[in-house]
Amino acid sequence: MNISVTGAAGLIGKNIVKKLALKGHKVKAMDFREKFNRDQKYIKFLKDKNVEIIFGSILNKENCKKLVNDSNLIIHLAAVLGVKNTEKKRKYCLNVNFDGTKNIIKLIKGKKKRIIFASSSEVYGEPEKNPIDENSKLNGKSIYAISKILSEKEIIKNSKKGKNFTYTILRFFNTYGEDQVAQFLIPKFINNVKKKKSLIINGNGNQLRGYLYVDDVVDGIYSVLNKLDISKNKIYNLGNSSEVFNIYQVAKKILKLSKSKNKIFFKINFKGSDRNKNREIFFRISDCSLAKKQLNFRPKVKLETGLKRMLKKDIYYDNWIYR
Ligand SMILES: NC(=O)c1ccc[n+]([C@@H]2O[C@H](COP(=O)([O-])OP(=O)(O)OC[C@H]3O[C@@H](n4cnc5c(N)ncnc54)[C@H](O)[C@@H]3O)[C@@H](O)[C@H]2O)c1
Repeated sequence: MNISVTGAAGLIGKNIVKKLALKGHKVKAMDFREKFNRDQKYIKFLKDKNVEIIFGSILNKENCKKLVNDSNLIIHLAAVLGVKNTEKKRKYCLNVNFDGTKNIIKLIKGKKKRIIFASSSEVYGEPEKNPIDENSKLNGKSIYAISKILSEKEIIKNSKKGKNFTYTILRFFNTYGEDQVAQFLIPKFINNVKKKKSLIINGNGNQLRGYLYVDDVVDGIYSVLNKLDISKNKIYNLGNSSEVFNIYQVAKKILKLSKSKNKIFFKINFKGSDRNKNREIFFRISDCSLAKKQLNFRPKVKLETGLKRMLKKDIYYDNWIYR
């Protein structure tokens, strides 16, 4: 299959591109040049596997044309994320996440193409009930959540208008993995352990989550390729609710696995943190029974295994690119 991936130098992008190329698909990968250049091993892999690299932004229409023209499937992952980042750059977040998606929609309209869109559990906001299934109310309030809700609606609206393209929307829940940058919770804790700094928890640490390792997300995305009929015009949650931890337990686990004596501190009122109490989601557990039934989605990697893998790697803060 001819497949294009946006956000191809990000955590999920890199890993899905690698899987697609290894499985023999013809792949195009788009992201910013600087982002690709941070990982020379990845660039070498892309060259060895004849993956076409498109350097640049999804806000550039020429780039999008090059990306989409001869592809049957577009895996659209490019987005601005990060709590502080998106709230500080609200307009930019909306621009990339929503207008960028509209750019892709315009190019696939009227064509027999499938878009797999990376949405997020953030669209549910603080859920009315847990576990959260796909029919739960969309209650996301952050600009990031709004950008994802608007994008989902735009995709569905255009596809319904008989525009001939089909979609599969995947709502990822808390994903982590080796390529994730230190702005996110797990890499931030691990980075602090390595730098012998304390781990800071915003709030009381009771925030509940299931953590999904990147390989499992990649398997979830890949399963859509094998189930194009059943997954046509569907929305799926992809999360891991087989193990649920609060943030304090995650912090303690990381200290234990790294045999670290670092301390854990709480910022009970989120004071001076990059998080805002009103934006925090306190309990978030996914109901993935639809993906389990229709895509055979079964997360395999336990948090402890994922953390051990991450502890072996260097972790960096991202210099976010705004362009
Ligand atoms: N990681 C998670 O926990 C999580 C959870 C829910 C949803 N998602 C969604 O999954 C997708 C991938 O997330 P990720 O964790 O790999 O994030 P990431 O930040 O590692 O990757 C996103 C990539 O998009 C690229 N990008 C940003 N703006 C761009 C633009 N204008 N043009 C081209 N590329 C651009 C970035 O350079 C980056 O490499 C995103 O859409 C994200 O919203 C992620």
